[in-house]
Amino acid sequence: MRYSKIVGLGHHVPETVITNEYLSSIMDTNNEWIVERTGIQERRYVDPSKDTVANMAAKAARMALQRAKLTEKDIDFIVFATITPDYFFPGSGVLLQRELGLESIGALDIRNACSGFIYALSVADQFIKTGMYKTILVVGAEIQSTAIDMTTRGRNTAVIFADGAGAAILQPSEKPGILSTHLHSDGRFAEELYVRDPGSSRPREERQPEQILDTTHFKVVMNGNQVFKHAVVRFMEVINEALNANQLKKEDINLLVPHQANLRISQYIQEKLALRDDQVYNNIMRYGNTTAASIPIALSEAWAEGKIKENDLLCLAAFGSGFTWASALIRW
Ligand code: UT7
Repeated sequence: MRYSKIVGLGHHVPETVITNEYLSSIMDTNNEWIVERTGIQERRYVDPSKDTVANMAAKAARMALQRAKLTEKDIDFIVFATITPDYFFPGSGVLLQRELGLESIGALDIRNACSGFIYALSVADQFIKTGMYKTILVVGAEIQSTAIDMTTRGRNTAVIFADGAGAAILQPSEKPGILSTHLHSDGRFAEELYVRDPGSSRPREERQPEQILDTTHFKVVMNGNQVFKHAVVRFMEVINEALNANQLKKEDINLLVPHQANLRISQYIQEKLALRDDQVYNNIMRYGNTTAASIPIALSEAWAEGKIKENDLLCLAAFGSGFTWASALIRW
């Protein structure tokens, strides 16, 4: 049996720090509310004149390659998770391929929002297991700040979502590696967290830019309460599914790296799994919720801080727009 394993991790976050105080100065919110309800103290926003989703992804990828002692030329496939691609089409995968100076290798885009990185990891895992590719670059990168309604009307999303990129390099391994991945969705809830436009289901006359009177359709809309309620249930389900599939117990987890949706969600899962603080990695306090980028950024930081050791059992779990949710168990 051939497995895949992560041989390098990297991340990049933009320089500009956006504090809760800054947000409070432009909309009706305050530091106490944000910290108490989300745990977020600050987040990063891109400078749109400098940063793109693809170039942030390239920086994260180069860090991952360097740590893996590999070069761009070793990559033979790209899987790119983002819901904020630089263009409506083509996807950001090809832009990253260009950015890295690679010729003709395949690039696949994944649009599964907060679960995107685990979906991407799962796809890469299957390609490595079948022997189709040897070195796959998996990235999650997002620029949410430009799609957020930065007025009081959008405050439930403005205080949460932010920008960043994370990357992982996967290669084959004789022993695991990625033990399993578990992917789910429930499209009945698609409109609970979404950006409506530029939607192709609009009649032609409505897709003319001058006809689009309601620009809120280009902003993130979220029914936070509903998302929260489903998230806590699905996170637990999909973590238990992963443990059961591998005949493992919650006590076997060395490090849980949850999608950084809301610190209260992570704390709820931690309590249910009876994990100590040092067994759960959280960096939402510093970066907010970076959607598909949140897990690889957290993984990259946890690794750099020496929190991931050989033979550790890592559990990744995510929930978000779609709804989609997913988990992965990894033997490091
Ligand atoms: O990334 C994966 C997908 N996303 C998530 O997992 C996010 C899940 N949801 C959440 O994190 C939370 O629902 C939020 C942080 C978005 C909201 O927290 P909440 O505790 O669910 O608040 P709420 O929506 O029930 O709103 C409570 C009150 C409301 O006021 P009233 O109606 O009680 O007067 C809101 O208008 O808080 C108000 N509110 C705010 N007040 C100050 C909502 N956003 C803000 C804000 N600042 N930013």
